[in-house]
Amino acid sequence: MATQLLVPQATISRLSLGKKALSPLPFPSPSLCFQPSFNRLRITCSYAAPDVGSTSFAIDVDADVKTEKIVVLGGNGFVGSAICKAAVSRGIEVVSLSRSGRPSYTGSWVGQVSWVAGDVFYARWDEVLGGATAVVSTIGGFGNEEQMKRINGEANVISVNAAKDFGVPKFILISVHDYNLPPFLLNSGYFTGKRQAESELLSKYTTSGVVLRPGFIYGKRKVDGFEIPLDIVGEPLERLLSATESFTRPLNSIPGSDLLLAPPVSVDDVAYAVVNAIIDDDVFGVFTIEQIKEAAAKVRS
Ligand SMILES: NC(=O)c1ccc[n+]([C@@H]2O[C@H](COP(=O)([O-])OP(=O)(O)OC[C@H]3O[C@@H](n4cnc5c(N)ncnc54)[C@H](OP(=O)(O)O)[C@@H]3O)[C@@H](O)[C@H]2O)c1
Repeated sequence: MATQLLVPQATISRLSLGKKALSPLPFPSPSLCFQPSFNRLRITCSYAAPDVGSTSFAIDVDADVKTEKIVVLGGNGFVGSAICKAAVSRGIEVVSLSRSGRPSYTGSWVGQVSWVAGDVFYARWDEVLGGATAVVSTIGGFGNEEQMKRINGEANVISVNAAKDFGVPKFILISVHDYNLPPFLLNSGYFTGKRQAESELLSKYTTSGVVLRPGFIYGKRKVDGFEIPLDIVGEPLERLLSATESFTRPLNSIPGSDLLLAPPVSVDDVAYAVVNAIIDDDVFGVFTIEQIKEAAAKVRS
């Protein structure tokens, strides 16, 4: 007996009728029924084709149907929680791993995430990564030189290798824009850690690793039960810098100029860019601030 397939929970990457590939789908909104374990779809549609006719009918087709399950490292943080929320809204199964586990705030999406308390340095990866189709790491932060190398670099290197060992096909890392800084400033533990994590990811996931390099991220950051509205500054600044970009572009060659000129990006755009990378197998590589916004626009609507 066929059951109804919730399309937002799945990505249909291939559809064929006999030897005939149907991609993109030739019908606007077919009704889909999924027979579990056979990867078989029953499609009822009106379809006009010379060899099939032009009436309304049902066809059985073989399809690769992929359901998504992601593990967000740091899912209770500022960026991580936006990613969890956006992924849940798209019907993606979400597990979060962070030392403090489930956040204290509430929200309808919070109850739909599996919150696991654990430290990536000591994680029981077999309990977290089973069945995952992607890992998203938001792990990073500030501190002294050693701490920054450890949390931005080592923590992510360990996570990339754990995901690779457990056969997770995709890894997405939230890194950082380089702000056009001179090399001696890029030698800080924060940036060296980020670049170490990036190179580990891109060497282990050559055709599916994704690095997002945002600048300042704005939104509502929750700290100790309070909400800091970073969007009050970030949103108008983003608009101003976008509007004046053609005038300020000549200044881009000045070292460090991006500290003032790199446009902020909303936390929702970062989250949607992550969702885009999760659902589109063809997305991989390093994404600049502008490319993050473009990727987000593809799934925002
Ligand atoms: N915010 C920005 O403007 C901005 C700009 C550019 C890039 N970024 C990058 O974006 C990422 C996310 O930033 P954010 O502002 O969302 O940071 P955040 O709020 O501090 O989130 C970091 C998350 O990582 C978790 N975490 C830290 N160490 C961990 C460990 N050893 N094991 C497991 N979980 C751990 C934290 O939870 P626990 O403490 O509970 O473990 C938290 O959930 C960072 O890599 C940051 O460098 C941020």
